[in-house]
Amino acid sequence: MTRDVVLVGASGYGRTYLAEIAALEASGAVRLAGVCDVRPLDDEGRQLAGDRPFDTDLGRLLDRVRPDIGIVATPIHTHLPLARQVLGAGAHLLVEKPPLPTADGWRELVALGRSAGRACQTGFQSLGSRAAARLRALMADGTLGRIRGIGGHGAWSRPDGYYRRAAWAGRREVDGVPVVDGALTNPFAHMVATALFLDNSTGWDDVSGVELELLRARDIQADDTSCVRLRTGRGTVVSAAVTLCAEVTSDPVLLVHGTRGRAALHYTKDVLFLDGVREEHGTTTPLRNLLDHLDDDRVPLQSALADCGGFMRVLDAVRTAPDPRPIAPAWLRRSGSGDEARVLVVGVEAAVAASAEHLSTFAESGAPWALAPVSRS
Ligand SMILES: NC(=O)c1ccc[n+]([C@@H]2O[C@H](COP(=O)([O-])OP(=O)(O)OC[C@H]3O[C@@H](n4cnc5c(N)ncnc54)[C@H](O)[C@@H]3O)[C@@H](O)[C@H]2O)c1
Repeated sequence: MTRDVVLVGASGYGRTYLAEIAALEASGAVRLAGVCDVRPLDDEGRQLAGDRPFDTDLGRLLDRVRPDIGIVATPIHTHLPLARQVLGAGAHLLVEKPPLPTADGWRELVALGRSAGRACQTGFQSLGSRAAARLRALMADGTLGRIRGIGGHGAWSRPDGYYRRAAWAGRREVDGVPVVDGALTNPFAHMVATALFLDNSTGWDDVSGVELELLRARDIQADDTSCVRLRTGRGTVVSAAVTLCAEVTSDPVLLVHGTRGRAALHYTKDVLFLDGVREEHGTTTPLRNLLDHLDDDRVPLQSALADCGGFMRVLDAVRTAPDPRPIAPAWLRRSGSGDEARVLVVGVEAAVAASAEHLSTFAESGAPWALAPVSRS
């Protein structure tokens, strides 16, 4: 069955969807029914979209074409109003991650999807990885023994151009509207969501005792070097320590510490190391899985909006936490120039790795630039 799709947000990450839709069109699974963006399409976008209807106003486009699916790949603080319109038009929804910038918005959208009887998928593509699914199964069946904890570490570097590309980049709010574009809640949102998925603790009530260290090396509102630690309802300690200011970058990794084994999931690569032995797995995209689910409701949504409760609890703790504290200039270095200029935090790679290994906060790991964590809910 061919399903009509409207894409909202066609450059930036939305370009990935435009390309995926073009590929799926070739197989007959979908048809691009229209594109909405507040900015005109560039040459590549026009080539991918062809002669399909384009509008800067989603309501107008949805009046003209009645899609089966609406994909929202726009800035975080625009997700709720656009997603409401998609569901209001009777379409199924695929909304990018993080799905909403507030817990109240998430609850509203989950309720709207339920009352409309429409599927609501999120763009957490790491949850479609068969490496993650295999690791979750090994944890659940006791192969790794008792799970002591799950520790994530991530060391990326974002240049000045990343923050200049959009008015919402690195913001906690824009004109009083929450955005929560911090390291834990956006670039490394997959780490938090995947850790909770592995523990089968995706519900709001599955997460408690959230401790946060929100720091910033840059002159931005949001955090760029952060650690979260929490406890799940199963008693698992989950931590994630991340930075966007690394000198030496690496794949983000989730370490699972079991009494009978140790696993390392490279969730951006679908690679799993089990006691050091490497396995490569495939993945299913959020859109492909949504289509499979619509074809056969025995296929579960792999990243359902309703299953983002635990993630949203962490996001809400970050949203309502005090502003990130600046790291003292003595621990910062600068490199590059123009859009490629970067800020680096001395020793941050070792600090995030130590956190994941010992399930410790930056302060406990002895990072010299660390501050005492803030406990939330
Ligand atoms: N899944 C992933 O790995 C991944 C990676 C990057 C970004 N994202 C997510 O994708 C989303 C978009 O991020 P981005 O960096 O591409 O954002 P962006 O600021 O580059 O905007 C994306 C597009 O949306 C358009 N847009 C903005 N407001 C709009 C509106 N009200 N109506 C219609 N179009 C609008 C912009 O013109 C742009 O073309 C965010 O939720 C982000 O967190 C996900």
